[in-house]
Amino acid sequence: MAKGNAQHTRWVVQQAAARHGDGVRHVAELGPGPGLGLEALLAQFPEAHVWGVDLSSVMLSQSRKRNQSAVTAGRLTLLEGGVPALSASEPADIVMANHVLYFWQDPAAEMARIRGFLRPGGLLALGYQLEAQMPAMAQRRFPRAGHKLYAADDEVTRLAAAAGFGSVTQVVKGSAEAPEGVVMLATA
Ligand SMILES: C[S@@+](CC[C@H](N)C(=O)[O-])C[C@H]1O[C@@H](n2cnc3c(N)ncnc32)[C@H](O)[C@@H]1O
Repeated sequence: MAKGNAQHTRWVVQQAAARHGDGVRHVAELGPGPGLGLEALLAQFPEAHVWGVDLSSVMLSQSRKRNQSAVTAGRLTLLEGGVPALSASEPADIVMANHVLYFWQDPAAEMARIRGFLRPGGLLALGYQLEAQMPAMAQRRFPRAGHKLYAADDEVTRLAAAAGFGSVTQVVKGSAEAPEGVVMLATA
């Protein structure tokens, strides 16, 4: 998982920094998995405290291993939990979540909760891939497991609007014919 998603993750961090680069003090990542995104956030925002929140203790231990020096230095806090645990980062300047969207049963409600933890003008950077560009195995297995896949970026935009985000844009990585991933940037 770390290898396949690494480039997309680093690209999402760059997109978030391009949108919201100054005065960033509180940054959180939901679902950091193996911790590459946390590593990139710590490097991109050297003045910020960073929180990593994941449902999986196994994934959190991978994140800890990869970012041990930041944990020891007190710059990175790792918490087991879902969206409610992001409250620790409130008021957050940026919340990033890559490839987590599919696992939310009520995505608009989860996004609304995240918006509540952002400072006014704070940014949700939501990285994902559309169904047609996902590996064939994921296209088959995710829906069977009850996860949600998305056919068009508009569907994700509408969720963010329903969650109360004012400004919502999407950036596609790679060419329009063969997108390598998408980030939705939504401002609270
Ligand atoms: C597909 S992995 C993506 C990992 C990493 N963000 C990446 O792009 O490589 C999804 C991660 O999100 C976590 N996760 C799934 N649903 C979550 C939720 N509702 N709240 C927090 N973490 C969640 C999983 O435990 C896993 O670590």
